[in-house]
Amino acid sequence: MSAESSQAPPAPRFRLLLIEDSAIAASIVQGHLDAVPWQRAELAHAETLAAGLARVKEGWDVVLLDLSLPDGEGLEVVERIRDVDAHVPIVVLTGHDDVRLAERVLGASVQDYLVKRSLDADALWRAIRYAVSRQQLVTQLARTMAEARENEANLHQLIARSADGVIVLDPGGAVLFANPAAEALLGEGRLVAGRGCPVALPAGETSLELGGHTVFIDVRWVDVDWQGRPSRMALLRDVTGRRRAEELRLRLERTERLAAVGQLAAGVAHEINNPLAYVVANLELLAREIRRLSSQGAATEHLAQPLDDARHGAARVMHIVRDLGVFARSEANEAIGPTDVNAVIEGALNIVHAQIKHRARVVRELAPVSRVGGAEGRLTQVFVNLLINAAQSIREGRVADNLVEVRTRQQGREVVAEVVDSGCGVAEEHMPRLFEPFFTTKRAGEGTGLGLAICRSIVESCGGSIGISSKAGVGTCVRVRLPV
Ligand SMILES: Nc1ncnc2c1ncn2[C@@H]1O[C@H](COP(=O)(O)OP(=O)(O)OP(=O)(O)O)[C@@H](O)[C@H]1O
Ligand SMILES: [Mg+2]
Repeated sequence: MSAESSQAPPAPRFRLLLIEDSAIAASIVQGHLDAVPWQRAELAHAETLAAGLARVKEGWDVVLLDLSLPDGEGLEVVERIRDVDAHVPIVVLTGHDDVRLAERVLGASVQDYLVKRSLDADALWRAIRYAVSRQQLVTQLARTMAEARENEANLHQLIARSADGVIVLDPGGAVLFANPAAEALLGEGRLVAGRGCPVALPAGETSLELGGHTVFIDVRWVDVDWQGRPSRMALLRDVTGRRRAEELRLRLERTERLAAVGQLAAGVAHEINNPLAYVVANLELLAREIRRLSSQGAATEHLAQPLDDARHGAARVMHIVRDLGVFARSEANEAIGPTDVNAVIEGALNIVHAQIKHRARVVRELAPVSRVGGAEGRLTQVFVNLLINAAQSIREGRVADNLVEVRTRQQGREVVAEVVDSGCGVAEEHMPRLFEPFFTTKRAGEGTGLGLAICRSIVESCGGSIGISSKAGVGTCVRVRLPV
């Protein structure tokens, strides 16, 4: 056992000031203080209020105060001491007659009172200890509150300067606070204290149309206590830049992929073209020969169907090779407009008429629109592909129940054309892949998966854009935007 731990630490020595005119009472107090050997006190004695007031500021742990002094009486005595020191703990010593008065001064200004005649050492020490510890508590509380106020002020400053937008709403959705970043994000003057938030802010990444621009905002919600009230705080981060960079990256990736596919396609198309030319020419030769033999009475009926199949197959291969060629073809020799989109659509509708007529009614809503930049032939290919897709999404037979609608309208410096169908729609998991070259859900032989990739390539080469919205089982809308 070490030397330190075998001894109890010395009890703190209390510094007490007794303001009391009676010498007997003073010596009784001293006696009680000395009666408890493990408690230590240093007692100073003032016989008048004036003498007491002169010493109050010396830093006492407790002032023991008689309420009837030669130069002061009752409540006034307490008040005069408080004028000099607002915080020092006071324990009042009182005669029997003054008990009611003592009770009145209890509370904020006086910690405790003791009746002199029934005073004993235990009661005196207990009152001293309680007065001191209560004072410590009060000091601690005051310090903690000051710190809390400072922390709150710091927090407010941090929030005000934060680059992220901060909006605090009460449980009813009214704005309690918005920092400058939030106002800059949502528009000056739109966030008004006491009113609702002007825009819905669902958690997660959300896009807002603000002043004609699309802004992407990442929204987080947290429950907070705001000035003592349960509230909700939205943290808003402008992620428009990040989103645009991401879009640009995807676009570049797609362009690279398309370029690679284009090269491959050009090679394949070139390789196939020549042998295909012999196949087609020789099939035509065979057809003529068979017709000649037949006219001479030879039995050729059994050859008609296989020959037809072969010609059909060859035509389809030619079609695919031509589509593949689109990726690699230069536009150098092609006219680039101005082209009348409505006329292009009419032309495309004529081409696909046979494929649509057994499946759906065709509705046109073609508004007068400006001419656009873009070769007529290539734009026709776009609408042929879109109309064939629309037709293929609808089963044959129920013409009256189904619709392929083509609309055009002018929107600022753009012509917007939409091909809408009431077909099978696109499964959600396929949506991101629709424009990928060779992505198809059609059976082998029915689709190569190049239609939409070609459409996008053509539309983007005209400076436009193409997008699809679709709901499985309901239908699809393909929207093409072309600059005038
Ligand atoms: N209007 C539409 N309705 C439903 N699904 C569609 C529609 N348009 C496109 N799709 C889906 O997108 C896929 C890709 O279309 P895309 O035109 O690129 O290729 P494809 O039609 O399959 O083949 P290709 O056009 O080369 O003959 C289709 O297989 C189909 O799943
Ligand atoms: Mg297609």
